[in-house]
Amino acid sequence: MKKNFSIAVLPGDGTGPEVVAEGIKVLEAVGAKDGVKFDFHTYDFGGERYLRTGEVLPETASEELKKYDAIFLGAIGHPDVKPGVLEKGILLRLRFELDQYINLRPVKLYPGVETPLKDKKPEDIDFVVVRENTEGLYTGAGGFLRKGTPYEVAVQESINTRMGVERCLRYAFKYCEKRNRDKKLTLCGKTNVLTFAFDMWERTFYEVAKEFPGIKTDYAHVDATCMWMVKNPEWFDVVVTDNMFGDIITDLGAMIQGGMGIAAGGNINPEGVSMFEPIGGSAPKYTGKNIINPLAAISAAQMMIETLGLEASAARIEKAVVAATSKHLKSLAAGKMGMSTSEVGDLVARIAVE
Ligand code: IPM
Ligand code: MN
Repeated sequence: MKKNFSIAVLPGDGTGPEVVAEGIKVLEAVGAKDGVKFDFHTYDFGGERYLRTGEVLPETASEELKKYDAIFLGAIGHPDVKPGVLEKGILLRLRFELDQYINLRPVKLYPGVETPLKDKKPEDIDFVVVRENTEGLYTGAGGFLRKGTPYEVAVQESINTRMGVERCLRYAFKYCEKRNRDKKLTLCGKTNVLTFAFDMWERTFYEVAKEFPGIKTDYAHVDATCMWMVKNPEWFDVVVTDNMFGDIITDLGAMIQGGMGIAAGGNINPEGVSMFEPIGGSAPKYTGKNIINPLAAISAAQMMIETLGLEASAARIEKAVVAATSKHLKSLAAGKMGMSTSEVGDLVARIAVE
């Protein structure tokens, strides 16, 4: 088994560097315990670098990042940079150029974590969203006509390719099989209105399903999915959906699992280099205060090494995160954990190797 991994680290903006440092601390602890070595190479991509140099991302960035086993990202977003510049120029560009066609978002309520859903317990909130990550409304297809005039037209097109949809669906079926829980895959769409795009999604879904006779198939419109996620989250096992719907329902998912302090995601190219991130953003107002919750970044690190095949080491991290939420942290909110950012990292690193 591979024992040496080289990881590109993009700490990014705001509190990104603080949470990434705790993720690295935990990885080094489990690595030492399990005889695995991680080499970390840091890149300064983000708002500060952009303001200093005027360049969002060097031309060669994605070629260079392809050399690594994985990418660990903190957060992108700077209060002095116009919204969209860094998101499009760094995060979306890397997702596209590295063809990370899956966005994997586990929605799991850990013991001790407060959910806004009344009477729902950890056993009720445990599903995974597989979001298509390189197509749909995110391709930038479209444009303006007569911009700035009263006759302005703005078109934003959703691009769905058979190949893109099929590879995403096949990944979701395989993931559901491997997860081996309810063995149920729900397609989340809008077949009643988006009668072209989701017609293709739906046809492809049932075709690919034939390759996976052990997996039950289910369908829900995206609006109904939102309703069920609040009312009966226990109905979901794995949910697969397009880029835009996936973006929206995974923020809802993050909230029912306890908020941005805990939600992690992976941008996955199963045949290439994948990138893992806490999904909460750069939280600039907490920067440098040592009060931000690093658990989402630690969980992103866990997903990263799980994807690299280090399943036992990943399980150690999860066990330690569960111990932290159930026994040690007062709350997941920044400044209210009853511990500092670095103390949470120390705690998880210690429990993970016990
Ligand atoms: C996410 C984020 C991004 C997205 C933004 C920052 C471009 O919200 O990862 O879900 O919309 O995909
Ligand atoms: Mn989002």
